Amino acid sequence: MQIAILGGTGHLGRRLAEGFLRAGHDVVLGSRDPAATRQKIADWAQPCEVRHHAQAVAEARTVVVAVPFEGVDATIAAVREHLHPQGVLVSAVVPLAAGHPTQIALPSEGSAAEHIAALVDGKVAVAAAFHTLSAARETEGEAEDVLYCGNTSQARQQAAALAGALGLRGVDCGPLRMARTLEQMTPLLIGLNQRYHVRATGIRITGLPR
Ligand SMILES: NC(=O)c1ccc[n+]([C@@H]2O[C@H](COP(=O)([O-])OP(=O)(O)OC[C@H]3O[C@@H](n4cnc5c(N)ncnc54)[C@H](OP(=O)(O)O)[C@@H]3O)[C@@H](O)[C@H]2O)c1
Repeated sequence: MQIAILGGTGHLGRRLAEGFLRAGHDVVLGSRDPAATRQKIADWAQPCEVRHHAQAVAEARTVVVAVPFEGVDATIAAVREHLHPQGVLVSAVVPLAAGHPTQIALPSEGSAAEHIAALVDGKVAVAAAFHTLSAARETEGEAEDVLYCGNTSQARQQAAALAGALGLRGVDCGPLRMARTLEQMTPLLIGLNQRYHVRATGIRITGLPR
């Protein structure tokens, strides 16, 4: 699968990109300034292409958005006309309150993912996932879940496939409005990291059928 990660040069982007690359997928990183950021990824285990956002999505049906919330509007504006009509956009964005990473500032649409869905206005399906994955985790494979939701079953299936590519279990949380809950889990986990003096707490749902 060809996967574009917008903001893939960042902290979460790196964890996702390295995982997808290890699983054998084609990954291209979307950046505002590819030339400036290429050296930022020079130490990655596997080389990865960096392109301007619009070029990054040109051939990818799966697009992960991993930019800070304040960069969402400009990033989506840069790619909107270039998104594949049968594509899926997966938001990992968490609208943390400025200067207060243990607090959230949800937008008027209810969540960052719903804000993105309003911006793309039906051009592509939208899912939300990865809010509880910490960029600070150094190894994959721990029994961590990827909670996802989406506005079509195709969007949710794509999010599940991405979780599987990381070697993690995907948990279907239902419609895109559930992103309101999922996005609030990130500040919860950041608070736990601080309280327990650890780098990367995560989430595992119990009681699900195997
Ligand atoms: N870090 C985590 O552990 C984690 C976990 C769960 C969810 N998230 C969410 O995932 C998203 C990315 O988090 P991150 O920690 O990876 O962020 P980050 O490293 O600060 O930024 C990711 C990339 O976004 C681009 N960017 C930075 N500021 C921007 C702006 N104002 N406008 C447009 N683009 C901008 C940069 O890429 P270029 O300079 O190449 O354009 C940067 O490399 C956030 O919404 C965050 O809340 C993060």
